[in-house]
Amino acid sequence: MKGRIPDHIVETVLSRVNIVEVVSEFIPLKRAGRNFRALCPFHQEKTPSFMVSTDKQIYHCFGCGAGGNVFNFLMQFERIEFPEAVEILAKKAGVVIPESLSYDTKESSGINAQLQKACETAASFYENNLSVPCGTQAREYLLKRGIPQEAIKAFRMGFAVEKWDALINHLRSKGINLSLMEKAGLVVPKEGGGYYDRFRNRIIFPILDVKARVIGFGARVLDKTLPKYINSPETPLYIKGKNLYGLWLSKDVIRDLDAAVVVEGYLDFISAFQQGVRNVVASSGTALTAEQARLIKRYTHNVVMVYDGDASGQIATIRALDIFIEEDMQVRVVSLPEGQDPDLFIRKNGIECFRALILKAQPLFDYKMSVLKSRYDAKEIEGKEKICSEMLSTIQKFRRPVVKSEYFKKLAQELKVKEEALLQEAKLFHTGGKERGLAASPAVVAQKSIHSVEQFLIKLMLEEDAIIAELKDKLEPDDFLDERTAKIVTLMFDCIAQGKGIEPSKLLTHLGDAEATRLLCESTFLPDINIENREKILADCVQRLKAKKLTFKRQCLQEEIKAAQEKGDEERLHKLIAEFDTLIKTRRGTG
Ligand code: CTP
Ligand code: MN
Repeated sequence: MKGRIPDHIVETVLSRVNIVEVVSEFIPLKRAGRNFRALCPFHQEKTPSFMVSTDKQIYHCFGCGAGGNVFNFLMQFERIEFPEAVEILAKKAGVVIPESLSYDTKESSGINAQLQKACETAASFYENNLSVPCGTQAREYLLKRGIPQEAIKAFRMGFAVEKWDALINHLRSKGINLSLMEKAGLVVPKEGGGYYDRFRNRIIFPILDVKARVIGFGARVLDKTLPKYINSPETPLYIKGKNLYGLWLSKDVIRDLDAAVVVEGYLDFISAFQQGVRNVVASSGTALTAEQARLIKRYTHNVVMVYDGDASGQIATIRALDIFIEEDMQVRVVSLPEGQDPDLFIRKNGIECFRALILKAQPLFDYKMSVLKSRYDAKEIEGKEKICSEMLSTIQKFRRPVVKSEYFKKLAQELKVKEEALLQEAKLFHTGGKERGLAASPAVVAQKSIHSVEQFLIKLMLEEDAIIAELKDKLEPDDFLDERTAKIVTLMFDCIAQGKGIEPSKLLTHLGDAEATRLLCESTFLPDINIENREKILADCVQRLKAKKLTFKRQCLQEEIKAAQEKGDEERLHKLIAEFDTLIKTRRGTG
């Protein structure tokens, strides 16, 4: 993105469009009292739990928790980014976005557009090579590998001839200059000056983004020469870790089937897709990144990994598991026979066998456990310890305490150790660790279920600005234990301090946190509260929040004291006990 669209523009757009009108362009809305209701477009349901509010200009689904303002709706429905959503609605509302910030101009005349045109021209050139005499050898190779003509066309495969300047000459004739070719990663500078074609005598797999624009290339030799593949370097268009090969073809199927099959290689993708397992994407041999996981998550939360049946495939799978878990996605694993990849497996056994394998994919716990058991001896203490620490590092990544605790149980059974010992191990393992989600720390526990007082106050604040001003004098955002409420309250206090209103739809453009967004939307749609004895009730809420905060602090300190005792850290212990005393005194003071 070139620059941020300024807040005042975003707010103008927000104030000029009506969420009810925008949403009803996509789904049929029915009036329900002051709100509108529909079947949720973001999950399967039979009775409508998707609500849109005219007053508040937000939507919320009580079924799946989706929610936000009109920008969020468009982003979620059309799977686009924020600037694009603003742009679309700005047009509708007749709001002009300065050219320098415009998403459109960036796309159509900026450097990226020029790079994209160079890549597109190169892709067509390579494609054409396959159908002329110089491509005979390549055609034979593809035929031998069982890739039919339709597939060649669908995947836009091509061929780079053996010459050093074939592409250079072609692109030059189309008015594309060398410096642009270099930026697009298509040519390589020579030592003594000049350039040569990066890809020569190789089959070309163009890499397209989700909008089916060519952004880079992978290129395979026709024999056993090394390296097997040469790929485009990273360019402003092609960032390896942010792209998945084939998604441009499979994204709709992935969404419809609500599952994605993740493979490693270009040819694995091609075999599977072309023969009918079409909800597939390829990570192109790199370690899967969180960004790639999030890319899949736009279409589904369910992943089946089918990496190569070799040691490196196994390692890559285990790494990727953790990434999917951290993204809160469901992941299962297929292990292929030693030495096979999906392409080979499909050629040997047929696509139906491959489909059957996917259906029988192992839960991630079982998969990782079986890999570890094959590496370490689960009967020996040393082996147990190794397996335990590797399994724990994965289990700790689950967000839900219930899920974690079930896995603790399972691991204890598998290793034949006491669950308590595992829990202790987990604590040990994570003290000093910077990973997310400390096992049983009260901070995490506190965050899970929203405290009724906190949500009650959010609801009241949403109803009346005056209440925010009043609470601002009595509470700190920090007094809210739930991270989500703390974020919302911080934002509300800021807006009030700046003399701005707190319409929920505006708050949402600044919130930028999925969980907090969900909570805010949900609170908006809760029935309005009529309080008679307002002063007293507010005072009571404040009191209860403060008391809860103190209890929480005390618990934290107690845990730290225990840890210091166990470690025998006298100095720290003294400090902590002094803190604890002060805390007890404040408690008496306020109580
Ligand atoms: N890869 C790469 N560079 C290499 C080797 C591999 O970029 N030198 C990437 C490619 O994206 C490749 C993937 O890793 O598709 C998987 O590698 P591999 O299994 O070796 O290749 P396949 O695509 O399976 O090709 P083939 O079936 O022809 O061996
Ligand atoms: Mn392979």
